[in-house]
Amino acid sequence: MRLVRLIANLGYGSQKDVRGMIRDGRITALDGRKLAPDTHVPHDQLLFDGAPLDPPAGIVLMFNKPVDYTCSTQDPGRIVYDLLPERFRRRSPIVAPVGRLDRDTTGLLLLTDDGALLHRITSPRSRIAKIYEATLARPLTGDEAAVFAAGTLVLRSEKTPLAPATLKAIGERRARLTIVEGRYHQVKRMFAAVGNHVETLHRAALGGLTLGDLPSGKWRYVTAEEIARVFLMDL
Ligand code: URA
Repeated sequence: MRLVRLIANLGYGSQKDVRGMIRDGRITALDGRKLAPDTHVPHDQLLFDGAPLDPPAGIVLMFNKPVDYTCSTQDPGRIVYDLLPERFRRRSPIVAPVGRLDRDTTGLLLLTDDGALLHRITSPRSRIAKIYEATLARPLTGDEAAVFAAGTLVLRSEKTPLAPATLKAIGERRARLTIVEGRYHQVKRMFAAVGNHVETLHRAALGGLTLGDLPSGKWRYVTAEEIARVFLMDL
């Protein structure tokens, strides 16, 4: 790929901006040599302001989403991109959320520019476990685990029953729920179906990948070995 396009696709600026950056010597070879905009130079042989470039296409980020941020590129309110480097939103292909969490849901959100990986994780056929911790308005009755595990619960305005889900009580009004689908507001609607109400919702894990000690509002790159953990079954 031509130098200008390579740098523009990483979100450093428009092709016009990038031409200016090359002219000004901000984008150079490793030895500081100036470059021609239309040359082909390998990604790892380039510096921007003397530092290595952001990683090439194929990145995966783990983000600990706080409340009040929307998983969208455009919203009048706060969006998850506000807490990521500006360049990630401008990359081509864009670094997109892998599925969505509601504005008031916290926790593990992956973002990637790898469309095939995004599809593999979000496809209904993938059946990847999503593990949530919910705080409820009312105490658990003790019946919820059986109702959710039965695989017969039909949510309001839907026709097909939910796949079996696993509930573990972790407090009088707190539960850990593992679901393998990603229907609209699924966890909130499941608790509504058993006469309760979700007050707070936090995603703790996706398959075998957990948030670990990543602080709220922070992000980090995910390794290939960690991505493999998303696809672990029989957790
Ligand atoms: N279920 C919900 O109700 N909300 C989320 O954000 C995720 C799952």
